[in-house]
Amino acid sequence: MLTITRPRRNRKSQAIRDLIKETELSVNQLIYPLFVIDGKDTSIPVESMPGINRFTIDKLLTEVKECVALGINSFALFPVVEEKLKDKMATYSYNEKCFYLKAINTVKQKFPEICVMTDVAMDPYSSDGHDGIVENGKILNDETLEVLGKMSLAQAKAGADIIGPSDMMDGRVGYIRSLLDDEGFTEASIMSYTAKYASSFYGPFRDALDSAPKSGDKKTYQMDFRNAKEALVEAQLDVEEGADFLMVKPALAYLDVIKSLKESFDLPIAAYNVSGEYAMVKAADERGWLDGRATMIESLTSIKRAGADIILTYFAKEFAKQR
Ligand code: PBG
Repeated sequence: MLTITRPRRNRKSQAIRDLIKETELSVNQLIYPLFVIDGKDTSIPVESMPGINRFTIDKLLTEVKECVALGINSFALFPVVEEKLKDKMATYSYNEKCFYLKAINTVKQKFPEICVMTDVAMDPYSSDGHDGIVENGKILNDETLEVLGKMSLAQAKAGADIIGPSDMMDGRVGYIRSLLDDEGFTEASIMSYTAKYASSFYGPFRDALDSAPKSGDKKTYQMDFRNAKEALVEAQLDVEEGADFLMVKPALAYLDVIKSLKESFDLPIAAYNVSGEYAMVKAADERGWLDGRATMIESLTSIKRAGADIILTYFAKEFAKQR
């Protein structure tokens, strides 16, 4: 007799496996990122992200409607801004005529019950392609906060449910929180990109937005992927500064960070299954090198198992469809 304990007994049928499963993935916990462009009646596919498009506002409404019918109730919107509207100070981000603000407003008017999350960072609007103000090759921290504040306020005014600072400037959560509160937007939530790493996995997203840095990289503000403890420092600050949710980004190469935040903090933990993670699965699936659907479910479940309460993922619609 080899052993009395035979763990395989608990795997002997689908019924038993389902009975004892520790992790259950639900569409309720997914946030679907959507790219928005100015104009009418147009959707432009993102080449490096098969199945993902950039939508004009009218098309965006159709997409949201379809997703809501599938059970997706939360969306993160990202703007694709024309080069000629970009400048050093990202002023278009809080311009009254900004189509992105209009998109937030229109979606919320048509679908008041859904949750709309925004992106706060200068890069989509910056002629330098950086998340902060660039001066002599350096990213200015405190000066950038003022721009992020104006952007956040404009998004809250447009009706955003969750403000999502993705810029990684120090002190931005506290700065944005107090500005929103002073202006009467005490109900606008903040999901902080708490541990956002300087990652190669953002490549396809930067293609989608045409937002890659014009020079240098983002390593002086996004985190070093060799570090995990630093994420706890960032998280502690975000909690003290009034964040409502903490996020880890990317997700799959950072499952340890998700787990450590989940163990150390009581706020809901989100993980961003980013563009490169999506593109890898899609590319391999297209070549017949792996089963895309099964890989999607395994990846998303792993992120959940690691401790994420919420997952931002480009797979949201596909996942919702196959349930
Ligand atoms: C911009 C931003 C990025 C992503 C979300 N917000 C890119 C970056 O920091 O360069 C990446 C999302 C993805 O890759 O799916 N601040």
